[in-house]
Amino acid sequence: MAKGFKGCGWAVPPFFSVRDENHVMEHVYRPGEDSYLLARHVRRLVHGEVLDMGTGSGIQAVEAAAKQEVSRVVAVDVNPAAVEAARRRAESAGVAGKMEFVTSDLFENVEGVYDWMVFNPPYLPGEGDADETSWAGGETGAETARRFLRDAHGHLKKSGTILMVYSDHTGLTASDFRRYKVEKLDEKSLFFETLFCVALTPS
Ligand SMILES: C[S@@+](CC[C@H](N)C(=O)[O-])C[C@H]1O[C@@H](n2cnc3c(N)ncnc32)[C@H](O)[C@@H]1O
Repeated sequence: MAKGFKGCGWAVPPFFSVRDENHVMEHVYRPGEDSYLLARHVRRLVHGEVLDMGTGSGIQAVEAAAKQEVSRVVAVDVNPAAVEAARRRAESAGVAGKMEFVTSDLFENVEGVYDWMVFNPPYLPGEGDADETSWAGGETGAETARRFLRDAHGHLKKSGTILMVYSDHTGLTASDFRRYKVEKLDEKSLFFETLFCVALTPS
């Protein structure tokens, strides 16, 4: 994603209805290449109790909740419209029964510890104005992801794993990952950026 690209939408994702598009989805991040890259690994790997940070449309949370091996999913976003979009998506998919929906700035209103965390953060450099929170991760693009990596540790089981996607435009450095063992699961080159999907386990 690059400024002007992330959020413009590349395909119509599953479970979207015209009603979602006209009402709930306004100001909610529409799944893009980054979302689909992450969703592939969510589908393959997660189990137990899952936290989907920055749930947006709910694509990752619903993908997780659809798995038998997943007992509970907490879908979190700072944007109340995104939380509502995720709830509607979950209801359409028939998986809302094992989900909770929380409006929160990262972990501010989040309780508990999780087997898996999933985060497709806003990861591009930008001011982070209200209408940019779906893609702008602060001045270097890394501020939101950095805060997440710092605070996630306290909500992850010792045996837990974080799945995260980011881009070569994101200003994350090795020290941001110092509390984790990092495994690169996937890489996707687009014409304006390269995306990475990593698995992080507490070190
Ligand atoms: C790139 S979108 C990802 C949406 C969805 N998870 C996906 O994969 O398509 C980033 C999401 O993070 C949310 N977000 C941004 N800052 C946040 C914060 N401080 N706390 C929680 N969510 C945040 C945005 O509102 C947006 O929905």
